[in-house]
Amino acid sequence: MTQTLFSTVRLGDITLRNRIAMAPMTRNRSPDGVPTDLNALYYGQRATAGLIITEGTTPDAGGRGYIDIPGLYSAAQVAGWRKVAEAVHAKGGRIVAQVMHTGRISHPDFLDGGSPVAPSAVAAAGDIITKAGPKPMPVPRALDAAEIPAVIATYGRAATLAIEAGLDGVEIHGANGYLPSQFLSTNANLRTDEWGGSVENRARFLLGAVAAAVAAIGPGRVGVRVNPGSTFNDVADTDPEATLTHLATALSGQGLAYLHLVGGAYSYDAAGIARRLFDGPLILNGGYDAARAEADIAGGRADVIAFGVPFLANPDLPTRLRTGTALNAPDPKTFYGGDAHGYTDYPTLAIAAE
Ligand SMILES: Cc1cc2nc3c(=O)[nH]c(=O)nc-3n(C[C@H](O)[C@H](O)[C@H](O)COP(=O)(O)O)c2cc1C
Repeated sequence: MTQTLFSTVRLGDITLRNRIAMAPMTRNRSPDGVPTDLNALYYGQRATAGLIITEGTTPDAGGRGYIDIPGLYSAAQVAGWRKVAEAVHAKGGRIVAQVMHTGRISHPDFLDGGSPVAPSAVAAAGDIITKAGPKPMPVPRALDAAEIPAVIATYGRAATLAIEAGLDGVEIHGANGYLPSQFLSTNANLRTDEWGGSVENRARFLLGAVAAAVAAIGPGRVGVRVNPGSTFNDVADTDPEATLTHLATALSGQGLAYLHLVGGAYSYDAAGIARRLFDGPLILNGGYDAARAEADIAGGRADVIAFGVPFLANPDLPTRLRTGTALNAPDPKTFYGGDAHGYTDYPTLAIAAE
């Protein structure tokens, strides 16, 4: 039977009412790393998505890399996430937390003066926005091999806390140049031990983080986001196709909730490789409109389509996609930080019709 964007789908243990996901988007509106009532309102407004993937959420104090991003390592954060989960579930939605350790994409200003950690002592090019303005990205401290299992374990703890907070699962952020992606990359990971060198070694950190989450909450509540070959945050991979081939193969056979490919230009057929080699549900993302999304679902290229910016600016995006209604224009000035403006005040169709 041909599927449509509005048919239900199972991602592991999570059943979605449609195949539209809200892509993870950092919004920098959780002071002290604790989700607020405003955050709960924002996610609740978008609960008609089949699945909400939250903004990147750090599993550990050492993983903070941006202003006012949320965490999942303290009781206060669990209480904050509980409000978010309740707001989404009250409207019949489903929500997983994206677990994001930023690694070298950070600054001592976020880490009580400490150094960011990374596979190797290689700084990312460019600036990081701190509360005092842009500052050059610092040279990170290379993790000692003996420390790595404890960092990986924070992913398992975050998964446990996500379920404790009433969330439906977690997405392990293995993309966009953050810590697991730094391990995967050939320019940020210069290690010669079992965590660097071959693709098997470079993938060990991400696969370990996934395994930690799976051990904590079961495979059917764990998804993984990747984009080998992306140069976002100054990572590089000399053979991204081999990396995705290895990851998609290694992540198969476990009953994971899903594999999620970040949108963007790939130098190889990433979506095709992921579809062919990964045996679970696949989420595709990046610049989708209704027609392309319907075509990729009907054609079996993906099981779910994730929308980022369109969902940020349209709390009722599924209704608009179904009815072919025009979309609100996003306001990039309010993407990263601020208050309710540009966050919870985008109009829905009902309001727009008044
Ligand atoms: C404001 C903003 C914040 C983002 N934060 C994250 C993030 O925390 N984690 C992540 O994996 N991707 C993040 N992304 C990327 C989006 O998930 C998505 O891949 C991108 O917006 C492309 O999809 P789209 O064309 O549907 O917007 C962010 C994008 C935007 C616009």
